[in-house]
Amino acid sequence: MKKTLVKNVKWQEAIKYAVLKTKHNLSLHNQKFPHISNDKCYEWGDNEDWIEGFWTGIVWLCYEYSGDEYLRLQANTQIDSFHRRLQAKHALEHHDIGFLYGLSALAGWIVEEDERHKLLAIRAADHLLGRWREESGLIQAWGPEDDPENGGRIIIDCLMNLPLLYWASIATGNSRYAEVAVRQAELSRKFLVRGDDSSYHTFYFDQSGNSLRGGTHQGYSDGSTWTRGQAWGIYGFALSYRYTGNIRFLETSKRLAVYFIERIPADGIVYWDFNVPVTGSTNRDSSASAIAACGILELLEHLEPAHPLRQRLEDAVMLTMTALAKSSMDMSQENEGLIDHGSYHVRGNYGLDGYMIWGDYYYLEALLRLEKQIPGYWYERDKSEPYHI
Ligand code: GLY
Repeated sequence: MKKTLVKNVKWQEAIKYAVLKTKHNLSLHNQKFPHISNDKCYEWGDNEDWIEGFWTGIVWLCYEYSGDEYLRLQANTQIDSFHRRLQAKHALEHHDIGFLYGLSALAGWIVEEDERHKLLAIRAADHLLGRWREESGLIQAWGPEDDPENGGRIIIDCLMNLPLLYWASIATGNSRYAEVAVRQAELSRKFLVRGDDSSYHTFYFDQSGNSLRGGTHQGYSDGSTWTRGQAWGIYGFALSYRYTGNIRFLETSKRLAVYFIERIPADGIVYWDFNVPVTGSTNRDSSASAIAACGILELLEHLEPAHPLRQRLEDAVMLTMTALAKSSMDMSQENEGLIDHGSYHVRGNYGLDGYMIWGDYYYLEALLRLEKQIPGYWYERDKSEPYHI
């Protein structure tokens, strides 16, 4: 990778700032989890949404960078909260178990090699496996099994929950988790990715697994390409490739990445949907930019040094990260987040312009990938070769 991309004084400053900000936030909001921001301050709540793992992931990243014992203790205390949540099966009737438990318990296992964290991550993978619907052959994203609207629905975000399953097969020797993950990735490749390399956010199937139609939840329209969904796809397929060695997943990640980078505006931060008419007031989604940067950095790890796409992909990461780092360096105390101008659900008129905790997580992960070769917590680091399940 280009030297300017990997070693950059801007990245170092941005990471140091993120560590300071994280410690400050922890001291103010002990035991609470940030969600999205209301103006400059996060809304802080209990561990009961899909996003709490991102905060714990940030704390782990900050600990790994700084070695600060306070951060290590805070991350471990947060894992206790995830333990209680799984025990009580509290607000877990959805597929986002990888986001929640990958960045808390699995991260804790990766960093600390603490067997309790490993067991918790395996139990979380069991819970995710429970969302596999054998008859329709899919992981149901949302709601209970008999949910009339969501019973046969998959979403592109789910690709980022599959690493927990792949990992669980390696950790336990039980191939069932990975079999399900591969089937879900294949289904997503066939139905969520369109012929022009854009993507549906969601897709519906009937009870026997017959395909019905594509649709959206957070995108501009059913047939549009929700920017964050495309970013989940870039990263998710690259990770499925890492675990399986299936070249089709690598090709899909590449296709989605090229579609994405061809639509990055000159100032570096994408709009919330690639099909939304752009005016002066169209919302951005900095979190999609940060996720795509991480996904492309993962993808680059699997491309040979002279690959014809490499330069374009590296340039896109540089453009994106420079723009994000600029927005993150506002040192004023009242700003609780790192990257501004994220959006959550523009179509639903919720979380239109502010900090999104997942955006902050992926931004920091991208910085640490660039600066320290710390790749987040989607896979264990002790193996230099792909797993090729
Ligand atoms: N996975 C939910 C979202 O990206 O909003």
